[in-house]
Amino acid sequence: MHDKTASPAPAPAPPLFTWEFAADPYPAYAWLREHAPVHRTALPSGVEAWLVTRYADARQALADQRLSKNPVHHSESAHGKGKVGIPGERSANLMTHLLNIDPPDHTRLRRLVSKAFTPRRVAEFAPRVQELTDQLIDGFAERGEADLIHEFAFPLPIYAICDLLGVPREDQDDFRDWAGMMIRHGGGPRGGVARAVKRMRTYLAELIHRKRENPGEDLISGLIRASDHGEHLTENEAAAMAFILLFAGFETTVNLIGNGTYALLRHPEQRARLQRALAEGDETLLATGVEELLRYDGPVELATWRFATQDLTLGGQRVAEGDPVLVVLAAADRDPERFADPDTLDLARRDNQHLGYGHGIHYCLGAPLARLEGQAALATLLRRLPDLRLAADPEELRWRGGLIMRGLRTLPVEFTAQ
Ligand code: HEM
Repeated sequence: MHDKTASPAPAPAPPLFTWEFAADPYPAYAWLREHAPVHRTALPSGVEAWLVTRYADARQALADQRLSKNPVHHSESAHGKGKVGIPGERSANLMTHLLNIDPPDHTRLRRLVSKAFTPRRVAEFAPRVQELTDQLIDGFAERGEADLIHEFAFPLPIYAICDLLGVPREDQDDFRDWAGMMIRHGGGPRGGVARAVKRMRTYLAELIHRKRENPGEDLISGLIRASDHGEHLTENEAAAMAFILLFAGFETTVNLIGNGTYALLRHPEQRARLQRALAEGDETLLATGVEELLRYDGPVELATWRFATQDLTLGGQRVAEGDPVLVVLAAADRDPERFADPDTLDLARRDNQHLGYGHGIHYCLGAPLARLEGQAALATLLRRLPDLRLAADPEELRWRGGLIMRGLRTLPVEFTAQ
C-alpha cells in the first residue's frame, strides 16, 4: 500500500534496464510505485523520461490531452541524446500514424480506420485464425519438442495480419523476414530495422496502389474505400495505417502468446483448471484468463511515448514542457491499490480493468483481433498438446531487451509427440 506516513529514508532506486531487470522487472516497479511513483530516469538510449508506475496516475496520464503523442513536442534539451519512435519510420515517411498524432487528426484517422477494421471483420476472421493455429502446431506436433516463440507465437500474428490486410500468400514470407528483423533488433542496431521498415513501406505503397485499381474484400481495400463525411485516407495515410496495424499488432501478439503460455506453464494449478474447463466445453475461463495474462505479464511493458505540451503536475510531481512521459503499464497493472493480490495469477479474476491495451483515445484498436488470436492460440495448444511442459530452466530463458515491449526470445517446450 502507498503509505506516505511511515517513510524511513528509502534505499536508492533499484537499477532499471539491466538483464536482471528484464527477467523480472516487477520488484523494481513495486519499489518505484511505493517511493518514486513519477520517476525521472535516463533510458538506455540516453533520453531522459518520466516513468509513471501507479495505476491511478497511469490511467490519468493515458487520458491526459496535455500529453501529446506527436514527437515535435519532444523538448530541445532531450533532443540529440537519443531517438524516440520506430526506427526508420521518419525516413520512410510513416510518421502520420495513430500512435504519433493528436486530435483532430487522430480523431479523423481513427474514425476512418474504424469503418474498415470492424469487430465484425475480426469475428469473420476467426475460422482462418483457427486454421493457421492448427497448421503451425501440425508443423511441430510430431517432434515432441519445439521453440514456441519461433515456431508458433512469432508466425501466427504475422500471417494473420497479412491475410487480413490482403497481402497475397506468396509474399507473406517476405513480411515474416522483415518482421523477424524488426523483432530481433527491436532495441539494438537500427540500420537493419530501418531497411526492413523501408522495404515494408515500399511493398505496402505498391499493394495499396494495386488494390485501388483492383479492390477486394480485404482490409486494405476497406481502408481505401472507407469514407467519413466525404473524406478518405490519402495513399500515404493508408500506407501509414497498414504499417501501424502490422507494427502494433505483431510483436504485441507474439508476446501475448509467449508470455501467456510461459505464465501458464509456471502455474500448473491454474493451467490444469483451464484445461479442465476447455475439456468441458466451457470457454469463460479462457476469456477471463487471457485478460488476466495481459494484466499479469502483458506484452506492452511501457505505453508508447508521450510529451508534455506545457508544464504540468502528474502524481504530485512537476513535469516540464517537452519532457517525455512513459506510462509503465506493467507496473500499474500490479498496483495493490487497484488489484487484490496483484502478484497472483488468477485466471478467473473478474474485477480486472487492466491497462494492457492502454486507455483513452489511443486504446488498442486491435484488441478484438488480439483476443481472438490469444484465445485461439492458448486453447489450441492446451487441447492438442495436453502435457506441454517447459524444456528449459526458467533462469536460463532470455527476455528481449527492447524498451516498450516485454517478451521472451525463446520458449523451448516438450510434450508427447502427436
Ligand atoms: C494501441 C496493446 C494487439 C493495433 C495499443 C496500445 C496498447 C496496445 C497498450 C496503446 C499504446 C499507447 O497509448 O501508447 C496491444 C496488445 C496487443 C495488441 C497488448 C496484443 C495482445 C494489437 C493488434 C493490432 C493493434 C493485433 C492490429 C492489428 C493497435 C493500434 C493502436 C494500438 C493501431 C493505436 C491506436 C491509436 O493510437 O488510436 N495497443 N495491442 N494492436 N494497437 Fe494494440
